[in-house]
Amino acid sequence: MFKLLKQLQEDVQSVFARDPAARNTLEIVLNYPGIHAIAMHRVAHHLWQSEHKGTARAVSTFSRFLTGIEIHPAAKIGRRFFIDHGMGVVIGETAEIGDDVTLYHGVTLGGTTWQKGKRHPTLEDGVVVGAGAKVLGPFTVGQGAKIGSNAVVTKALPAGATAVGNPARIILKHVFESHPDEKARLDFAQKIGFQAYAASPDLPDPVVEALRVLLDHMQATDKRLDKMCGALKRVNKDFCDEKPDALKPESLSVMQESES
Ligand SMILES: CC(C)(COP(=O)(O)OP(=O)(O)OC[C@H]1O[C@@H](n2cnc3c(N)ncnc32)[C@H](O)[C@@H]1OP(=O)(O)O)[C@@H](O)C(=O)NCCC(=O)NCCS
Repeated sequence: MFKLLKQLQEDVQSVFARDPAARNTLEIVLNYPGIHAIAMHRVAHHLWQSEHKGTARAVSTFSRFLTGIEIHPAAKIGRRFFIDHGMGVVIGETAEIGDDVTLYHGVTLGGTTWQKGKRHPTLEDGVVVGAGAKVLGPFTVGQGAKIGSNAVVTKALPAGATAVGNPARIILKHVFESHPDEKARLDFAQKIGFQAYAASPDLPDPVVEALRVLLDHMQATDKRLDKMCGALKRVNKDFCDEKPDALKPESLSVMQESES
């Protein structure tokens, strides 16, 4: 009982950090459906673990009726969990949520199969899931990752990634901050006029992967040619003045877009 109250106190305090509209504790306790839902979930989860499964389901259903937030009593939820606005959130039976996670209204942590077993996602610490986003399947969303509003995520996301859209794609500017190699690759792609959309190591797409390898190879070859031209120019300053035929990047871009 003491543990449940302590957790609830932490949940309430976490609202101040994540909602600029929060004014005082009483207001949060009375008016935040996300707080009502997590309080009832913590009771329901305790009942579920104590093998009072029917009562646990009843508490969960009452919570859904009251808040519009449906959390299966078996779902594992960490500390300082915050659901802002709440309405329309669904958290499935085998979902696992770390500490300091934030969900907005309309989020689904769902499954894509009717088989029993792990079928809902795992969100690591500090994940933020934007309004209306759907996270579907038994994969992991890494620590501190952000999912944009209305994104549909069906594959694992690495720690710190930001993903948007349907199907969700990782925003490249965030990848470049943590992968300097990717920045060099994009710079070179732009130099030759090629749009390297979604050429990220975090997207397991074989076509994109092949293009990344080609870009690396072209970049290395280009550097070697530059060196050779430099040496030849010392012999005759007219060497290497001719530019190679322009690459037609449109065809590559079209191909890549149709693959994605
Ligand atoms: C995903 C998110 C975290 C990205 O924030 P950010 O890191 O500041 O990124 P930016 O705003 O710089 O956007 C980067 C790019 O992604 C695009 N983008 C951002 N959010 C998007 C979304 N939800 N869907 C599609 N594209 C999105 C931007 O248009 C921008 O594209 P560009 O580079 O072509 O201009 C944020 O946009 C978001 O959706 N947060 C959820 C907020 C929410 O649900 N609030 C509910 C309050 S009630």
